Amino acid sequence: MIIANWKAQGNIKLCKEVLEKSSQWENIPIVICPPYPYLGYFATNSHQNFLLGSQDCSAKTDGPYTGEVTCRMLQELDCKYVIIGHSDRRCFENNDLINMKLQIAKKHCLETVLCIGESISIKQDGRKAVMSHLYKQINNLENCDIIAYEPLWAIGTGLIPDNNDLQFIIHELQNYSNKKIIYGGSINANSIRELANIKNIDGFLIGNASLHLSELDVIINIYKGIRSSK
Ligand code: PGA
Repeated sequence: MIIANWKAQGNIKLCKEVLEKSSQWENIPIVICPPYPYLGYFATNSHQNFLLGSQDCSAKTDGPYTGEVTCRMLQELDCKYVIIGHSDRRCFENNDLINMKLQIAKKHCLETVLCIGESISIKQDGRKAVMSHLYKQINNLENCDIIAYEPLWAIGTGLIPDNNDLQFIIHELQNYSNKKIIYGGSINANSIRELANIKNIDGFLIGNASLHLSELDVIINIYKGIRSSK
């Protein structure tokens, strides 16, 4: 699967282009996670070839909480997935809050994508330190459907993990959690060739490149090609 995380970027023009382009997106699960207002746009326009995901959700149910967007609202907007604990948010969210979000999202039948990842300094401490950091970020497995491994030092930097390291981490996370494991961080039309060949990755979480539809298309096609040849 391919999950596109627009972050706080994109506009109605891009939404329209995605709707047009998506007629070519067949035989591969694609989830578009735009900012909240554009979820509303997609919800009112038929989007047969992709699913909708949210970049976050409230830990609360409907009520007098200014600025919050609840899982019930996401469900009403035809959202099927929700990203929780992205590193852009972990700066002001602790594990307790993340756990509450996972729990409430599952109650509303959303597929939860839990993001985890280590900083460069933890990476420099070696594989054991990395794994123990990642395990600490996963402590609500029962409410988590997909784990997105996104090393902080790879997000938006153009850097990607070494093949052996990534293969090792994916394997360990699979053994530990028995969940789908996807990778995110600097995926583009070039890096996807190497990344899609890594064994047992269940998909990719794509940030910046998902805002450029011709590049996203290249990524989707390379990924599809490599998957079908296996
Ligand atoms: P990037 O972001 O693809 O722009 O590196 C990935 C992410 O933060 O999910």
